[in-house]
Amino acid sequence: MKITVVGAGNVGATCADVLAHRNAAHEIVLLDVKPGIAEGKALDIWQSAPIDRFDAKTIGVTNNYIPTANSSVVVITSGLPRKPGMSRDDLIETNSVIVKHVTEQIVQYSPCAIIIVVSNPLDVMTYQAYITSKFPRTRVMGMAGILDTGRYKAFIADELNVSPKDISALLLGGHGDTMVPLPRYTTVSGIPITELLPKEKIDAIIERTRFGGGELVKLMGTSAWYAPGSAAARMAEAITLNQKRVFPCCVKLDGEYGLDDVFVGVPVVLGKSGVEKIIELSLNDAEKEDLYSSAKAVKETMDVLDKMQ
Ligand code: 2OP
Repeated sequence: MKITVVGAGNVGATCADVLAHRNAAHEIVLLDVKPGIAEGKALDIWQSAPIDRFDAKTIGVTNNYIPTANSSVVVITSGLPRKPGMSRDDLIETNSVIVKHVTEQIVQYSPCAIIIVVSNPLDVMTYQAYITSKFPRTRVMGMAGILDTGRYKAFIADELNVSPKDISALLLGGHGDTMVPLPRYTTVSGIPITELLPKEKIDAIIERTRFGGGELVKLMGTSAWYAPGSAAARMAEAITLNQKRVFPCCVKLDGEYGLDDVFVGVPVVLGKSGVEKIIELSLNDAEKEDLYSSAKAVKETMDVLDKMQ
C-alpha cells in the first residue's frame, strides 16, 4: 500500500511523519512544487525510522507524480494557509485552482485512489476534488471533524482536568464558524458532559471550538499543523488498514439528514473502500437548525465555486 501526501508544508509534513511513525502503509510519498522541500522533509522522517523503529519507506519528490502512481490514498494539503484577519473562505480563488490541478494528476496516476482533502476552505475544496475527479462520493472526503472534535475534547479535558483520552464527542457541519458540536453526544468515560459541566461552560467551550483555528492563526500568524496533520493521518490509516473507524468527516450528502448535494461533516465509517457508511443520528430541533444553517453556509461557498468554474 502506498499513501501520497501532496504538499510538504507544515500540515503535509506532519501528516507524512505521523503516517510513517504508525506504519500506516509500506510507502509514504511526499510531494511538493518547491524543489528540495519534500525530498528534505521525507529524508528527515526516514532518518527517524531507525530511532523510532518504523519501516514505512518515506520518499520525497518535486512535482513529479510518477512515484505516486497507484497510491491507495492521496491526502491533498496543498494551498495557501490563512493569515491573521483572513477567513477560510478568502482562500477559495487561489486554492481551488491548486486543488483542481492536483486532483487531475491524482486521477491520471492513481485512478483507484481515495482522496482526503485538507486544503481550505475545506468543505468547498472537497467539492472541488469531487467534481474534478468524478470519483464516487465514497472516495472523496474532507478532514475537519476529527480536528474540530480534537479541539472540543482538548478544551473539555482542560476544563474538567481529566485525560483527553477519556472524552468521546461528536461534531457535525462545515469546517467553519458554523460547525455544530453536540453536547448531547459528548461523554467522559460514558458520563454525559451535561452532568459534569453547567450550560454556560459548555457554551463557552463550543464557542472557543468554533473559532479554534482562528485562535491559532492569531497566535502564530499562520494556521495550525500538528492536530490537522495527525487528523488527516488517522483517516488515511483507517483506510489503508481497513480499520472501520467511526469519524466525523466531510462527505457529500445525498438525502442523509434531509440534505442534498452538499459537503458537510457527519459521522461515517472509514475502511478500505473509503466512506463505507454514513451514520444518521436523530437530532433535536435546535441541533437540526444548527446543522441546516451550517450546510447553508457551505452551499453558498459551493455556489461561489460553481460560478468560478
Ligand atoms: C484549522 O482549523 C487548518 O483549517 C485548519 O486549523
